[in-house]
This record gives sequence, C-alpha cells and structure tokens, in this order.
Amino acid sequence: MTSYIPPIDKPQAIYTLSVKRFDPERDSAPHWETYQVPWVVTMTVVEALEWLWDQGHYIAFRTNCREFTCGSCAMLINGKPALACDTPLKDRMRIEPLTRYPLVKDLVVDQSAVPKKWKELKLWPHVRDGKPIDEVSAESRAGWHRSFARCIECYICLDACPVSDTEDSEYDGPMWMLQIARARAHPKDGQDRLEQAAQRGIGACTTCYECEGVCPVNLSPIKEIQRLRSGLVRQRLVGRRPARPEGTRLGQRRKQ
Ligand code: FES
Repeated sequence: MTSYIPPIDKPQAIYTLSVKRFDPERDSAPHWETYQVPWVVTMTVVEALEWLWDQGHYIAFRTNCREFTCGSCAMLINGKPALACDTPLKDRMRIEPLTRYPLVKDLVVDQSAVPKKWKELKLWPHVRDGKPIDEVSAESRAGWHRSFARCIECYICLDACPVSDTEDSEYDGPMWMLQIARARAHPKDGQDRLEQAAQRGIGACTTCYECEGVCPVNLSPIKEIQRLRSGLVRQRLVGRRPARPEGTRLGQRRKQ
C-alpha cells in the first residue's frame, strides 16, 4: 500500500491505538492488538491505519476516497459506527469491524449481501406512466437529489440501529427504508413502495434516532420512515373506504 499520509517527521504526541484483528488462516477468534502511532493534529483514523501498514503491520481495512464520499472506510470506532477518514485520531481509540456483515479479515466485512438485496427489493425505478424522463421538472429533480442522492451507502446506520437485522427482527433497517423512500420519490417509479416498506418491517423502527446521529452526510432516515409510515396508513385507510360517488370531491358535501 502506498501511504497517502504526509510524512510525520515531528509527531506532536505518540498515541495508543487498539485494533481488533482476525486472520481466518491463523486465528480461531478475533483478538485485540495495540499499537503506538505518531500523532499530528490533522491525523485521522484512516491515516493512522495507513501509517501502521507502512510500518509492516498489515491490518486489513478498506479505504478509497478519503473524503467521506465512498463509504468504504466505515468501522466501529470506540464502539460507534463511523467513517475512519472522517474521524480525528485520539489517544486510546479502539477500532473494530462493523457487526452486521460476516467478518472477512481484521476490519474488512463481507458486504456481498448488499447488491443481492438491491436486486431483491428492485430498488431501481419502474416505469409508472411512460412519461419521458426529460419531462421531469428541474424542481422535482433537485428535491430528489437533495433528499436522497447523497446516501453514500456506508451502512453505518445499519450498525447503529438497535432493531434491524437482529435475530428476532424482520426489519431491514434505516438505510434500506431510505432507499425504498428514494425509489418511491423517483418520478418514474411505479412500484407500491409503501407496501414494500411494510413487508420489510418498517413498523419495528422505534424512532430512536440512533441512525441519524451517526449518518456522516446528515441524512434523515427517520423523517423518511415517518413519511412512509403515514403514507402507508393513508393508503390502507383509503383502500378500505367505499369509492366516492362520481362528481364529488374530498371535503365537498354531497347534494341531497
Ligand atoms: S475512504 Fe471514502 S468515505 Fe472514507
């Protein structure tokens, strides 16, 4: 690995960093190892890992953009899911892999289930009414981008959620609800996303806001979950109501 960190000629301190390590070819279970890392004020956790790699401590981890946009460096830092490139290095930090996916090696987890779930949920827009995409107004396009397109799919919110993907829960979790809401808001989507959210266990969300607290791009899964839930209630209630007589509008009293 080529280190992207600036040379640390004059460290301002030496910090201790604990990393949970696991090599499937050598270890029967993960274990903690402790390292001494030179610290300068701009240093992030990902840079500390790169520095260790350059010293011959080949800790497996993922990184790519180093600017909080690709989501690949997500891990547990002091017990909380976070991006390593977005977290300043502090003394006595403890770093572990995310918990919701099978462990591969050290800080790397197997996320191959993600593309499978995209396929299963059909999270691409399905044509609703044949309207050409270039007729979608700039305003609705901008709104869609503002609300949804910023999700970097780091899966941090899934790790933070206390009810998703646990043994007794059928709730897929905040990121998937956000993706369902995104697909629903797409001007060309014609799937019943409200029923899909219900089938994926949206009712189990406790609105504890843990997912929002950790989102590195400040998205609001809870706001979308609440919108999906109220849309679902409206859809189910309206579905049970007898059809309105022709020529009447909601709130308009029928003439006797
Ligand atoms: S390396 Fe891309 S988000 Fe951290």
